[in-house]
Amino acid sequence: MTNIRDLEQLDLQGSVPAEETEKQYYYMARARQYVKALTAQLGRTPTCCVTTFGCQMNARDSEKLVGILHHVGYEVTEDEHADFVIFNTCTVRDNANQRVYGRLGELKSYKKHNPSMKIALCGCMMQEPTVIEKLRASYRFVDLIFGTHNIFKFAELLCRTFEQQGMIIDIWKDTDQIVEDLPVERKYAFKSGINIMFGCNNFCSYCIVPYVRGRERSREPKDILREIEKLVLEGVVEIMLLGQNVNSYGKNLKEPISFAQLLREIEKIEGLKRIRFMTSHPKDLSDELIQVMKESKKICRHLHLPLQSGSTRILERMNRRYTKEQYLALAEKIRREIPDIAITTDIIVGFPGETMEDVEETIDVIRRVKYDNAFTFIYSKRTGTPAAAMENQVPEAQVKEGFDKVLKVVQDTAREQVARYQGRIAEVLVEEVNEQDDSLLTGRMSNNTLVHFPGPPELIGRIVTVSLDRCQGFYYMGQIIYKSKNLW
Ligand code: SAH
Ligand code: SF4
Ligand code: F3S
Repeated sequence: MTNIRDLEQLDLQGSVPAEETEKQYYYMARARQYVKALTAQLGRTPTCCVTTFGCQMNARDSEKLVGILHHVGYEVTEDEHADFVIFNTCTVRDNANQRVYGRLGELKSYKKHNPSMKIALCGCMMQEPTVIEKLRASYRFVDLIFGTHNIFKFAELLCRTFEQQGMIIDIWKDTDQIVEDLPVERKYAFKSGINIMFGCNNFCSYCIVPYVRGRERSREPKDILREIEKLVLEGVVEIMLLGQNVNSYGKNLKEPISFAQLLREIEKIEGLKRIRFMTSHPKDLSDELIQVMKESKKICRHLHLPLQSGSTRILERMNRRYTKEQYLALAEKIRREIPDIAITTDIIVGFPGETMEDVEETIDVIRRVKYDNAFTFIYSKRTGTPAAAMENQVPEAQVKEGFDKVLKVVQDTAREQVARYQGRIAEVLVEEVNEQDDSLLTGRMSNNTLVHFPGPPELIGRIVTVSLDRCQGFYYMGQIIYKSKNLW
């Protein structure tokens, strides 16, 4: 196992190592020297802040950036008045982009008061050439811009911000590299995301992700297992396996392995209590996976199965490669095999050419599958995707009408589904002190439902048994009835 290196021991006099992981540690050691000098100049430890705008994969990337910043000597904070601020951006919908531009304006004013402040931008939005042009023209105060494919060389780029004046831009079109063993700083001590693959090959016609994240690449199973084993030793009890389409994991490895086989291996890791994963593309969900989930003691009773639309006609235009009937049959099979499972989904309203009849088809699927939760999005036109060039973009008023209708059914169904467990008991992983009431703890059931209950903060990271006394819409209020051994 490659351990996180002691940067003080690294030789900075010799040449830069060729192997990528070694090379990045070399740059971390060099960055550490710069940070030491900055500390002396400021008379305090400089601070850093990484803000995540996107999905769980984006959040995991942020943890890697924080890991490196912490490793080279920055103090980590969540306050954007820091000495080094990174925005890790998302571009899946236009409102994600707009938020970044808005917040950048605020950073500009912070920088006026702190001239030694450095601002970096990375993530999916940076893979779009029009964004880079705009930043170049109107956001000159940004010090560093890099993309999704070269995030592994952040340490090297960080050094350049100390060595070079002006805006540094380094964007790659694509990569086939996966660099292992760089430091990571987890947000939670007891749970962690794990990338099992990067990129996406599906090209759903509305989606920009394949363009900004590149082609699908799976990590070697041994690297994944080793990372999880290490996390478990550090106290992690729950992991979330991350990929845009986990069901096609492993297909392109030299020694191909299925996602279900990978899960079987992960299940064997002693000390690991819960396994989650996202996202599953319905077209690739195998019977083998359903079987593994059914037999597993660790895989959580939750499946996120994005529908996008319930209309076969729209699904075809979306290039989703399943029909309404195929999706319904799959959901039914999953519910039959694993009755206590929660199924959640993503829905897009307002895809080009969508009529109110199509929306009714979507509502029909929601009623039949009975989702435990669904994220409903208004279609956002992404330049460069096939859907952006389609005729019949839907008028705003119709989109709004469809969206409101879908949302109402989603909420009614989810409320009914969540209430199914009233009066039962459940194992809950305690995640945090309740934000509104600090006498309460907040935890998550295996099926992802939130439960609030009285208890001390020492229980955070533990699994406790809780009575589900009162269902309040989408969550429960409960009481701890049993603390497994060695608690308190
Ligand atoms: N790989 C995942 C989804 C990643 S993006 C999957 O296939 O399920 C997360 C969600 O954003 C998608 O499921 C979709 O519902 C939504 N989305 C993606 N592109 C969008 C767009 N152009 N407009 C609106 N919603 C979009
Ligand atoms: Fe986008 Fe489709 Fe890939 Fe998901 S599977 S990331 S929606 S292209
Ligand atoms: Fe956004 Fe990129 Fe994730 S576009 S949703 S951060 S993969």
